[in-house]
Amino acid sequence: MPKRAKILITGGAGFIGSHVMRRFIKTDKYHIVNLDKLTYAGNLENLKDIEDSSNYEFIKGDICDFEFVKGLFTRNNFYGVIHLAAESHVDRSISNPIEFIQTNVVGTMSLLNAAKNSWNQSANHRFYHVSTDEVYGSLGDEGFFSETTPYDPKSPYSASKASSDHFVRAYGNTYGLPHVISNSSNNYGPNQFPEKLIPLMIHNIKNRKPLPIYGKGYNIRDWLYVEDHARAIELIFEQGGNGETYNVGGFNEWKNIDLIHLLCDIMDKKLGNEQGTSRKLITLVKDRAGHDMRYAIDASKLNSELGWKPSLQFAEGLEKTVDWYFENEKWLNDVTSGDYQKYYEEYYTNR
Ligand code: NAD
Ligand code: TYD
Repeated sequence: MPKRAKILITGGAGFIGSHVMRRFIKTDKYHIVNLDKLTYAGNLENLKDIEDSSNYEFIKGDICDFEFVKGLFTRNNFYGVIHLAAESHVDRSISNPIEFIQTNVVGTMSLLNAAKNSWNQSANHRFYHVSTDEVYGSLGDEGFFSETTPYDPKSPYSASKASSDHFVRAYGNTYGLPHVISNSSNNYGPNQFPEKLIPLMIHNIKNRKPLPIYGKGYNIRDWLYVEDHARAIELIFEQGGNGETYNVGGFNEWKNIDLIHLLCDIMDKKLGNEQGTSRKLITLVKDRAGHDMRYAIDASKLNSELGWKPSLQFAEGLEKTVDWYFENEKWLNDVTSGDYQKYYEEYYTNR
């Protein structure tokens, strides 16, 4: 890898992307170009502390605009791409699937094609697609997703991510594009947009609003602190094998209802409430269409080959996350102003 190699990171103003940006910029090993369209989920406030770094530039643009992306590759000699830009929320993919095909499939194709043309079969490059465990479908009570679990996506979101994973591998096989893919479980932590379970519940508890739990709350997710994911991404980018896939998970399965109970108890303590106050806000609502029952990751390959394991216990990570949302009230107020209220009122009325 060249010294201060130029890397294109897409979606760097989003939740996971902003943590990846910070990690890569601080190492000072790279020059980072952040390409982000700044959709509702992208926020330059997430990068305030690093925006003046000399090894960083931000470009506002759409990964789906192939001519624009091609021009970017022509002007820059990118050593690698870390591709995170996506539409990322399952509920939105149910109400607006087309946008997910556009960004997640067409956008990934546009980047792949530009990289293929620019790198011209040279092996000294790396295209890294950051993907999800949801491509594997849904588990019953037993078992884990491994890297060899057959793809079986069940929501428009996971189908779009599975499709983009397939295109990345197809470009590797057909054109020799050097690539690596990781499939991670659910992330949580600072800067997550309050549409995903944990920040939505933090926001609602703060505002004494109902906590909508889909179905009975028995669905299970495997939660990973976002900075542990960012550390895995750095390792995989630098040391992962060409053409390889790595699963990333928290070894941390929680039933939604149990997680919300824990979160309510943490928040009651911070808010000085009598224990049990926030639990009273829990409201069981209509289940999500096609709701995947259980995700659980076997991350032993990443552990044995690259020495990665999560660093935080869940209660500690959750507390850090709650503290961040308390300390960043302006961030939370800003992202929940404007269209947010209208979107959620309509969403919970019409779903
Ligand atoms: P996010 O929704 O918080 O951020 C997505 C970012 O992509 C935003 O900054 C947005 O502005 C940008 N973007 C969207 N469309 C774009 C376009 N057409 N052109 C350029 N930029 C665009 O997402 P996240 O939760 O940070 O997820 C990042 C990646 O990680 C996604 O690819 C997602 O599928 C994957 N992932 C997420 C999780 C999770 O738990 N959040 C778990 C596994 C994998
Ligand atoms: P989410 O954060 O949307 O992530 P994903 O669907 O990608 O796993 O949801 C996590 C779990 O929480 C999932 O089982 C759906 C459930 N959920 C609720 O019960 N209520 C909510 O308001 C949200 C957003 C999610």
